[in-house]
Amino acid sequence: MVKYIGSKRVLAPVIERVASLLPIRSVCDLFAGTTRIGQAFRRAGIVVHSNDTATYSEALGHAYVVAGEDVDRVRLRQLLAHLGGVRPEHGYFTETFCIQSRYFQPHNGMRVDAIRAEIDRLSLTAVERGLLLTSLLEAADRVDSTCGLQMAYVKQWAPRSFADLQLREPAPVPGPPGTVTRIDANELAPRLAGIDCVYLDPPYNQHSYFSNYHIWETLMRWDAPETYGIACKRIDCRTTKSPYNSKRVAWQSFSQLIEVLLTPWIVVSFNNEGYHDLDLVAALLGEKGYVRSVAIDFKRYVGAQIGIYNPNGQKVGRVSHLRNKEVLFISGPDEALVEQAADVIRRPSAVAVEQEVVF
Ligand SMILES: C[S@@+](CC[C@H](N)C(=O)[O-])C[C@H]1O[C@@H](n2cnc3c(N)ncnc32)[C@H](O)[C@@H]1O
Repeated sequence: MVKYIGSKRVLAPVIERVASLLPIRSVCDLFAGTTRIGQAFRRAGIVVHSNDTATYSEALGHAYVVAGEDVDRVRLRQLLAHLGGVRPEHGYFTETFCIQSRYFQPHNGMRVDAIRAEIDRLSLTAVERGLLLTSLLEAADRVDSTCGLQMAYVKQWAPRSFADLQLREPAPVPGPPGTVTRIDANELAPRLAGIDCVYLDPPYNQHSYFSNYHIWETLMRWDAPETYGIACKRIDCRTTKSPYNSKRVAWQSFSQLIEVLLTPWIVVSFNNEGYHDLDLVAALLGEKGYVRSVAIDFKRYVGAQIGIYNPNGQKVGRVSHLRNKEVLFISGPDEALVEQAADVIRRPSAVAVEQEVVF
């Protein structure tokens, strides 16, 4: 799985247990990102609809949410072997991300160029295409030279960037096959009648996913956009904005989204360092059903743990604190089940639960 800021990797096992307990057969992961949480719901036997505005999330959705037992895995392996053997070529990706900037070493950039171009020449189903794009995305991620964000690349080549890019088969995820879309969450929300649950994990600060992962967006779209700045970002990073990244409109967007939801169960993740007052989030959800929230203590992201550095690589500041909290809200029509779900989160597990709030 790719490095992704805000990914709920640690929460996935907890969500899987909560999902098994609730009386739900279908869920929509409206801000799916890596699809990790969608995969957890799928493993619990629930039909998942995965949605995100990012094109790479749509590819991951095809690979991990939509792909079912009908995928011809023998053919998939043959396709991957074929792609692994195509002749490297110096194209847009190498020029932009290995020469004009230093996100990847040229020997890997040239393989990305050749493999990505070849994917477009193959005759594929939508799911096969998603599986191959996911394999390439994950392979590139394993040999990049960043700290997990594409705002900048590291000064010295990261040790992993010297390795050769290797395509691997995206592992099948057990559970029923689902569906995927790439739509604005607020547009999709009122169309979810008949779905039992939504999982909401929107951006919670000013950092745009479109900008932070511009290379993955370009790799998926393969549209060779004009770029700007040292980071060689897509020109449309200047104009592509999510309302959830704007302090001024984020609350309005979130509250409108909650108001139009028709699903009886709502599960929400929020970080205590984000824009929103978590008491207001609980009050808003309280208009829909019984609400329980549990705060989970996480190690802060790696950038915070290693200190603050200036562009010359010198340490210039201390980190204020090393831990942040993720708050999981569960809202539903059955108080006893909401309580049981909170119990499941509280149980000793991979995550340390700090405090619990009852509304
Ligand atoms: C915190 S991340 C989700 C992480 C995800 N739960 C995971 O575990 O990987 C937020 C996601 O919201 C997406 N996003 C931002 N604005 C959106 C919008 N208006 N509609 C749908 N998705 C949006 C971003 O592309 C990003 O993937």
